[in-house]
Amino acid sequence: MSVHVKAKRVTVPDIRGRKGGEPVVCLTAYTALTAVLLDDTVDLLLVGDSLGMVLYGMDSTLGVTLEMMIAHGQAVMRGAKRACVIVDLPFGSYQESKETAFRNAARVMKEVGCAGVKLEGGVEMAETIRFLTERGIPVLGHVGLLPQSVNTAGGFRSLGRAEKEAEEIRADAAAVAAAGAFAMVIEGTIEPLARAITSEVSVPTIGIGASPACDGQILVTEDLVGLFSDFKPRFVKRYAELGAGIALAAKEYADDVRHRRFPTLDHCFGVNPADKTASPHKKAG
Ligand code: KIV
Repeated sequence: MSVHVKAKRVTVPDIRGRKGGEPVVCLTAYTALTAVLLDDTVDLLLVGDSLGMVLYGMDSTLGVTLEMMIAHGQAVMRGAKRACVIVDLPFGSYQESKETAFRNAARVMKEVGCAGVKLEGGVEMAETIRFLTERGIPVLGHVGLLPQSVNTAGGFRSLGRAEKEAEEIRADAAAVAAAGAFAMVIEGTIEPLARAITSEVSVPTIGIGASPACDGQILVTEDLVGLFSDFKPRFVKRYAELGAGIALAAKEYADDVRHRRFPTLDHCFGVNPADKTASPHKKAG
């Protein structure tokens, strides 16, 4: 008799408890396939709204809808049995009021079955974060560079060089932690600022373009494996070149099809074994 031992899922309190300890390993996942591949390796899978740009070819994350996040969240949950799965609340689904935020976050939690949600923003979002966490919705904060605010920020650039800007981001991080977020992403700040915030806040910081001192790190998986290769930001380290591999495989396939090298009779059904030694292009009689 074989006994199937179910892997214990990493929980929000597990992640929260990693402050100052073993680094929290996080990656994005948008599909069941990717979730299956990453599940054993990472602590946290983020169904990031970056999927709008990475999967759907949008110019920014602003066009991503709640329905898209729910569909991709469900796909990831089907593939991830062990990792803690967090789903991004998309632009427009939480900024209007804390009540709207709760309604949409609760819908994501119910329909996806994920462990929590992520939302972008600092001081201005603290009340909303408190409202959600006090009502049973774990929140992963996100401070520093906020992709959903790209239009007011005027583009993507690293933040915190000016003293005032650095102070604002520090205040954002403090407000997010005080409001009850179990951890926070710090994106695109100068390194000393992310390091300082990490030493100041009581919850784990998850860096992307931030600092090695953060309590954890996250990257977009497609960046890590070289699948999203329009550009490579400085903060990305590529561990594979799958994009080049896919393009090469497709070229070889196209060449085989054009030269009638694929399929061979080995790839076909109902072939008389004797025919396999004959010409693969012999017409069936
Ligand atoms: O949407 C996303 O993938 C993110 C991560 C890059 C942190 O927010």
